[in-house]
Amino acid sequence: MLMHDLSGKTGLIVGVANKRSIAWAIAKAASEAGARLAVTYQGERLEENVRDLTADLTNPLVLPCDVTNDQQIADLFGAIDREFGGLDFMVHGAAFAPREELAAPFVQTTREGFRLSLDISAYSLVALSRWALPLMERRGGGSILTLTYLGSERVFQNYNVMGVAKAALEACVRYLAADLGPKGIRVNAISAGPIKTLAASGISGFSGILQHYRDRAPLRRTVDTSEVADAAMFLLGPGGRAVTAEVLMVDGGYHATGM
Ligand SMILES: NC(=O)c1ccc[n+]([C@@H]2O[C@H](COP(=O)([O-])OP(=O)(O)OC[C@H]3O[C@@H](n4cnc5c(N)ncnc54)[C@H](O)[C@@H]3O)[C@@H](O)[C@H]2O)c1
Repeated sequence: MLMHDLSGKTGLIVGVANKRSIAWAIAKAASEAGARLAVTYQGERLEENVRDLTADLTNPLVLPCDVTNDQQIADLFGAIDREFGGLDFMVHGAAFAPREELAAPFVQTTREGFRLSLDISAYSLVALSRWALPLMERRGGGSILTLTYLGSERVFQNYNVMGVAKAALEACVRYLAADLGPKGIRVNAISAGPIKTLAASGISGFSGILQHYRDRAPLRRTVDTSEVADAAMFLLGPGGRAVTAEVLMVDGGYHATGM
């Protein structure tokens, strides 16, 4: 058995904005491993980007999905059901916090900023998993993967409400894994080291964080999206078949450092 083989499998990728997106690196790796993919875009602004990127994939399904919109989620899974007849894996890479919330002191977090950040960055995993469930059951199981950051456990300057959202997201991973495990569906997260992407550009002082990882992480470097994608292939494919409810650190070992 090839540990990263996804041939004959179908997958849904949520969270591609452009070629630097972590979800895009995972989509490319999954496609190379043989999977047929549905890839979503958030709003018309990103549609062209995602259509251009996915042009090289084999027969992809490209559909809109704003995770705050229940109708779009329903339509997305309706289309996947019609086209694929089931689903083997899902990658969740959607996250958002209003820019002001990432600049002001954390104590100033607004009720609306908090609500929106947790809705998009954490609750959406629950909503998408609920829709994925019947399609994965039809395949006799599946693998769900989300992306998180160490700011869920430790304080990083300006990460603010996104850290709270990631803590909620990691708890959702454990509760979903407990719910869906008896159906053969695994739920995991990758906690990636900092990478310069569109989402990261919203965090002020981000280059300082990158430098800190180069100075302090055991591997003395940052990670890139292809390395996160390789770890994702393990969790999505047969190699990870006994792994669930896990947060896998792909950060050059930074999480283990103290003084
Ligand atoms: N870049 C990093 O340093 C880093 C580190 C650890 C974890 N992560 C996480 O990885 C994931 C992917 O982020 P990225 O760094 O690749 O940046 P990115 O900006 O490329 O991806 C974020 C995605 O979230 C999507 N999104 C935002 N609001 C949405 C909504 N309402 N509906 C649907 N999609 C929505 C955006 O369209 C975008 O595709 C995020 O969860 C992020 O928190 C990033």
